[in-house]
Order: sequence, then structure tokens, then C-alpha cells
Amino acid sequence: MTRSHDRLTGFLRRHASALGVLLVLLLLLLGLTVWIVVHGVSARDQPTSAEVFLARTLRHAAMPRRECAMVNPVQPSDAVLEEGRMHWADHCALCHGNDGRGNTEIGRNLYPKAPDMTAPATQGLSDGELFAIIKNGVRLTGMPAWGGASQAQDDQTWKLVLFIRHLPKVTPDELDRMRTMNPISPMERREAQAEDDFLNGTDAPPSAEGGAAPTARKESR
Ligand code: HEC
Repeated sequence: MTRSHDRLTGFLRRHASALGVLLVLLLLLLGLTVWIVVHGVSARDQPTSAEVFLARTLRHAAMPRRECAMVNPVQPSDAVLEEGRMHWADHCALCHGNDGRGNTEIGRNLYPKAPDMTAPATQGLSDGELFAIIKNGVRLTGMPAWGGASQAQDDQTWKLVLFIRHLPKVTPDELDRMRTMNPISPMERREAQAEDDFLNGTDAPPSAEGGAAPTARKESR
């Protein structure tokens, strides 16, 4: 009995610091569980700045250094920027907005929210980190992984990186052109068609309602 007691005391003394760390981690986990239960899991809430800081720091820490250091192999030009712009309007603007500020119905109601990508927090990320985020997505957030393994798809992603760098300078004229590339639902298409018909005085007869032909401009990456 005394011998086992001595052995336990010895063990506790030898591993005091490791046990201390374990205790702190357990308390943190308990605190986090209580915090989640008390605050609920609604995606409407605005994440606290501590959460944003922690999430971004962990995301950065989990990003392989090799990927962060990658250099954009695509040289910027008007044509390349146009490709990135149209690709963004078609695939990314749903959450991020054409102007990249994340002020869309989906973007502002996600948790974490789609960030304002014109702000220094995003613009300060390296090209390689932006590329890796687009290619692999971000776990436990609304950010999906895009593209596949081919070089052509990687090039598309690098063009998106160039467009992200351009976001702070995007002009109203560019935004107008991007709106024509934003995907719209069949219901929105029908509404737009009905509005056009009304304005042109060519209202469709009731039987043809909802029969607007779908456009085939949405392509997959
Ligand atoms: C379904 C919604 C959604 C779509 C569509 C989407 N994203 Fe995101 N994206 C997010 C969310 C949410 C975040 C925030 C992730 C986080 O906090 O780690 C994000 C983060 C990012 C970031 C990191 C910015 C930063 O500062 O944290 C980049 C870069 C990015 N997205 C690029 C893209 C590109 C390019 C596309 C289109 C090919 C795209 N996203 C499509 C939701 C989306």
C-alpha cells in the first residue's frame, strides 16, 4: 500500500509539467464545450475577434511552408485578368460578391463569414497561400476546394489569385460586366424574362409562363 502510494507520488512528481499541460487542455476543452452550449450553434452570429484570430492563426499554421512560398507562374495581362474576372463572377461571387467584399446573402450568413478580400488581412496573404486555399478549400468553413489535379486547372486558379490581387481596384464598369456572368436560378431567369417581356410589350401568354429557355453558359472547371 505504502509502496504503491510512493510510486504514485513519484510518478506525479516526474510528470508534473506534462500533467499540468494536460489539465489546462482539459479545462480549455471543457470551457469551449460550455461556451458552445451556452451560445448555441447559430451561423447568424458574428464571430468574436478572438475566434477570427485563432481560426486564421491555426489555418496559417496548418498551411505547409512550401505551399505558402509558391510563386505565381502566370504572367499578368489584360486577357488573363479577364479570364480570372469572369471565372470569379461565375464561381466565387455567389459567396464573395463580384467586388470580393463578401456582402452577399450567403457570404454574410456563413460562419465564419466570407471575408472582405479587399482588406489587408487577405491581401497580406502570400500568392501561394491564396492558391492553396482556393485549391484545397478550408475545412469546417463554407470555403470549398476548387479544381482538380491538372495543370490547366492550376493555371485557372493562379489567374484567380491575380484577380484577387486586383479586387481592391475593381471599377464599376467591371462590376457591370461581371453581373452578366453571375449564375442565376431558373426562377430569377423567369422573373427577368417576364420583366423584359413587360417592358417590350411582348408579355408571354399564360400557358408559356415559366417556359423560358435555359441558357447554357455555365461551365464546370
Ligand atoms: C459557398 C461559399 C463560397 C464560395 C462559392 C467560395 N468561397 Fe472562398 N471562402 C468562403 C468562406 C466562408 C471563406 C472564409 C474561410 C475562413 O474563414 O477560413 C472563404 C475564404 C476564401 C479565401 C481566403 C481569404 C481569407 O482572407 O481568408 C480565398 C482566397 C477564397 N475564399 C477564394 C475563393 C475563390 C477563388 C472562389 C471561387 C473559385 C471561392 N472562394 C468560392 C466561402 C466561399
